[in-house]
Amino acid sequence: MHSELRPQDWWRSAVVYQVYPRSFQDSDGDGVGDLPGITSRLDYLAELGIGVLWLSPVYRSPMDDNGYDISDYRDVDPLFGNLADLDTLLAEAHARGIRLVMDLVVNHTSDEHPWFVESRDPRSPKRDWYWWRPAREGADPGAPGAEPTNWESAFSGPAWEYDERSGEYYLHVFSRKQPDLNWENPEVRQAVYDMMRWWVGRGVDGFRMDVINLISKPSGLADGVVPPGRSLAPAFGSVANGPRLHEFLREMNREVGLDRAGLLSVGEMPGSTLALARDVTDPARGELSMVFTFEHVNLDQQPGGDKWALADLPLPVLKGNLATWQRGLAETGWNSLYWDNHDQPRAVSRFGDDSPEHRVASAKTLGTVLHLHKGTPYVYQGEELGMTNMPFTDISQYRDIEALHHYRDAVARGVRPEVVMAALAAKGRDNARTPMQWDATADAGFTTGEPWLPVNPNKDEVNAEAAVADPDSVFHHYRRLAALRRDLPVVVDGGFELLLPADEQVWAFTRTLGDERLLVLANCSSRSASVNPDDVPDLHGAEPLLTTHGDRDGLDLLAWESRVYRWTGAG
Ligand code: GLC
Repeated sequence: MHSELRPQDWWRSAVVYQVYPRSFQDSDGDGVGDLPGITSRLDYLAELGIGVLWLSPVYRSPMDDNGYDISDYRDVDPLFGNLADLDTLLAEAHARGIRLVMDLVVNHTSDEHPWFVESRDPRSPKRDWYWWRPAREGADPGAPGAEPTNWESAFSGPAWEYDERSGEYYLHVFSRKQPDLNWENPEVRQAVYDMMRWWVGRGVDGFRMDVINLISKPSGLADGVVPPGRSLAPAFGSVANGPRLHEFLREMNREVGLDRAGLLSVGEMPGSTLALARDVTDPARGELSMVFTFEHVNLDQQPGGDKWALADLPLPVLKGNLATWQRGLAETGWNSLYWDNHDQPRAVSRFGDDSPEHRVASAKTLGTVLHLHKGTPYVYQGEELGMTNMPFTDISQYRDIEALHHYRDAVARGVRPEVVMAALAAKGRDNARTPMQWDATADAGFTTGEPWLPVNPNKDEVNAEAAVADPDSVFHHYRRLAALRRDLPVVVDGGFELLLPADEQVWAFTRTLGDERLLVLANCSSRSASVNPDDVPDLHGAEPLLTTHGDRDGLDLLAWESRVYRWTGAG
């Protein structure tokens, strides 16, 4: 019995699977994945046992940022198919008990969206739909350094683009082809809600909201603090979490009927604090179901916010961070749980050990740790196979605008190319965007054409066909994790307690609901480890539910070995 589960909170007991359409399955041989391709793989997703499919953007787009620059919110880009293909995907997913969540990118549009095209005319009624500003006081419009503020875009270079026609600048926190919408203008908000209602009417089950905490910008745009050695201040720091964020989210929820219709809403919120996340996900406030925090994926970088400045990540820091979020949202709100997505490197390469010896066990153990926390787990395509980072060797192999711009600017600033390449190898987004590895054939069964990004050479060993056939694979481990969540209320609702917080190798915690208890013991290192019996509950009477290394018992753990134990009743 799910004591706390209201029917509209169905997403608490579901596993969400993210599809990056470009790289999932090509059906027409053009080297780019598409909607019919996704539909053709739904049986695989159903076998994995997922409850929700989150589709990264498939809308019409000039593809400057692979579809996160949208020029028509109500159509599918021909690269991916058409609206009829989307309706088919939706119906076929629903027929298999899988819900569909769309990506919603409304902090910005494409510069080719008709709204922005119109807005370029200073006399247009849509001028105020975007952030147009004159040059800095006393500066020559268009001259170097004349931008209205000193902000740097997330993809390098100034966050303002000069428009000769009107002599003004427009704001773009991301690429210059992604102008920020002005949410202060009520017409903009109504246009967005209208579009969202249109998708709800088509039958979608929710939205993943791209950088949604940037929609409210601080009043009076002001210069930010420039980090040492740089000439611009990251725009993010200046525009995130503005004063009207809660108001806009509540209005959106009400106007679109997100809660009323029982839709899943997950907000991507870089720079969100725990306190903010608690407010946003407090059901009584009517904002969002859950948010994506960035804290745990920012731990392996130097302080200062530069994702390319790599740093070691000790296990106590990582598990301590997740535990803080578990505690912080224990009474009010809800966590999302993720290791990776289309913006992050591959989980097994980053947090596990992707060497041939430890890849499988570490991928399973990372899955166990994440899925046994309290919250809704997200699986990024290929994570369930233990797909690894791509061994890129040359900048010409990258396609991502973030990587290409960063390389150009960092090398121009005098950073040695080897250093930039090492950071890209560790953190670059294209690591996660190489084609899904379906089988061992030439292009891993992804396409019959030339894939838009090369297939990882380890596809002979790491592929879905082999994994589905092997009962000991990472795939079947993830399938069992999804089943545990469906079958055991303690996985969904159980209280969380971290054990051994300072242990450098072992991640241990309990989940408790009534007289039911789970214990997770996970060696997150490539060396064997042992746990002191005084530090964990007595395993007597416990039933092993899910293990990585067969039915071993005792408190010695092999490299990357993990076990989930369960006590029921009086145990
Ligand atoms: C989000 C997306 C990312 C995109 C950016 C701009 O962070 O996940 O892929 O580049 O927003 O839309």
